[in-house]
Amino acid sequence: MNNEENGEKTGQCRCVHGFTRRGFLTSVGVGAMAALATSGRLSAAQEGAVAERAAEKAVVITLTVNDRSHRLLVEPRWSLLYVLREQLGLTGAKVGCERGECGACTVLIDDLPRYACLTLAVEAEGRRITTLEGLMAGEELGPVQQAFVEEDAMQCGYCTPGQIMSVEGLLRARPQPDQAEIRQAVSGNLCRCGAYPHIVKAGLRAAELKAKR
Ligand code: FES
Ligand code: FES
Repeated sequence: MNNEENGEKTGQCRCVHGFTRRGFLTSVGVGAMAALATSGRLSAAQEGAVAERAAEKAVVITLTVNDRSHRLLVEPRWSLLYVLREQLGLTGAKVGCERGECGACTVLIDDLPRYACLTLAVEAEGRRITTLEGLMAGEELGPVQQAFVEEDAMQCGYCTPGQIMSVEGLLRARPQPDQAEIRQAVSGNLCRCGAYPHIVKAGLRAAELKAKR
């Protein structure tokens, strides 16, 4: 598929086009079953029956991610995090706890930071979703990303995408926050490496960089 077919010129993704039921059965909803099958807990017939039921429940939704529209075939139980990563290949949002405790999966929904692991993909239809990838301008880092680099606000880096999205959300609402507001904004993002002092500095620096741009 060339870029135009893939929708890069139109801002439209045709993810669901040509998506056959068989393709669905092959590519989705089957991951968990494969694990069960290899563990000997599902026979081939049972595996097929479960996949059939999953395909019957699948729905077509349109998600707007980073200003681009995607038509997708999803199961209603799938999280936004799963769809972003596994269907759209947007791996900026990280898989951490998957139960709303760590913040590694943070994205913006209508400019507000949200845990993508606790948001169903179907709930996000009609909303404006921004991921870490959406903060880039081509190859250029966005102001918050740049500030995290300048302030050395990471060690292992696993929490960093979520921290950046939380700071981005704060700055969209409060362009000139103080330190307390930045700490509050990232309070739902756990950093096991204890990089918080640098993260707060990065938040202040990001506000400066955004103001300059
Ligand atoms: S992965 Fe979503 S809060 Fe931890
Ligand atoms: S930099 Fe390692 S968890 Fe935050």
